[in-house]
Amino acid sequence: MARFTARALANVALVKYFGKRDTELNLPAAGSLSIALEPLATTTTVEFDEALPADRVALDDAPAPSEFAARVSRFLDLVRDRAGTSLRARVKTANEFPTAAGLASSASGFAALAVAASGAAGLQLGDSELSALARRGSGSACRSIPGGVAVWEAGVDPDGHDSIARRIAAPDELDLRVVVGIADAGPKPLGSTTSMERVRRTSPYYRAWVESTASDLEVAAAAVADRDYARLGEVAERSALGMHAAALAARPGILFWNGTTVAALRCIRELRAAGHGVWFTCDAGPQPKALCRSADEPAVAAAFEQLAGIEQVIRCRIGGGATLIG
Ligand code: DP6
Repeated sequence: MARFTARALANVALVKYFGKRDTELNLPAAGSLSIALEPLATTTTVEFDEALPADRVALDDAPAPSEFAARVSRFLDLVRDRAGTSLRARVKTANEFPTAAGLASSASGFAALAVAASGAAGLQLGDSELSALARRGSGSACRSIPGGVAVWEAGVDPDGHDSIARRIAAPDELDLRVVVGIADAGPKPLGSTTSMERVRRTSPYYRAWVESTASDLEVAAAAVADRDYARLGEVAERSALGMHAAALAARPGILFWNGTTVAALRCIRELRAAGHGVWFTCDAGPQPKALCRSADEPAVAAAFEQLAGIEQVIRCRIGGGATLIG
């Protein structure tokens, strides 16, 4: 059978997804908004082969760790079900950024896998179907299908058909950059799924977090439409802080940051006070991410490079959606 290769980008949420209403289908408690990050890409090749007794998964040119391979196989089962085949597949996936850089690769990974695997299985899926499929692998992956600036609607359907991401702005429509600081390249101590579930079950702030996210999403989408960077940056910062506040209040509390993260947050606020257009966000890990205008990118990158504890600085621009490249 044919071999299909897809490339997809990681994305960073400016309005965060952090809480599920359905853990099986990865249906979120609230909507979210993200931008796709070029050059943080994953490239994945899938080929179904009747000679294979089991799926064979390679990550960055070596056999993938068993937990990773099992997650890929579970995802392939969804594609096999849909295509009505039981063939096993050869999967080769590689991140263009170091896998150990402490950046989430599940969004780019499952978006690339959804496109490559559905193509290889002979399915002809539209963007909405691909987004819903990628979501099953990892929630945030649904936003990497359209890329650009994407909104993932929470949806109301119990089967998740309306819980998909769509693009609200193309990459060149906004003058925005993301400067990522690596504050700890080690693996995450707690996966997003586990931490989200603990927050949902135990954090007394969870309800307030979900409620505030719905209005933050409206404000952020309007700010994108108006190219109001200051408004968008403000919402991004408060969404990140709100998510971390809900996590801190979980039982036991979850502290994703290290000292370098806090220093970076303060540094960004100082740069802003000095007149730069820059705002802070941070996901379920310690890496600080600065959202800024392109004119401010050199100053932001230089400030991160001088911060003690920052191991690497990666400059990103807004990228496109997941595509077949071969
Ligand atoms: C903090 O999409 O990795 O980055 O659906 O359980 O795979 P699962 O979670 P995942 O969570 C991302 C959480 C976040 C915020 C965001 O990207 O919106």
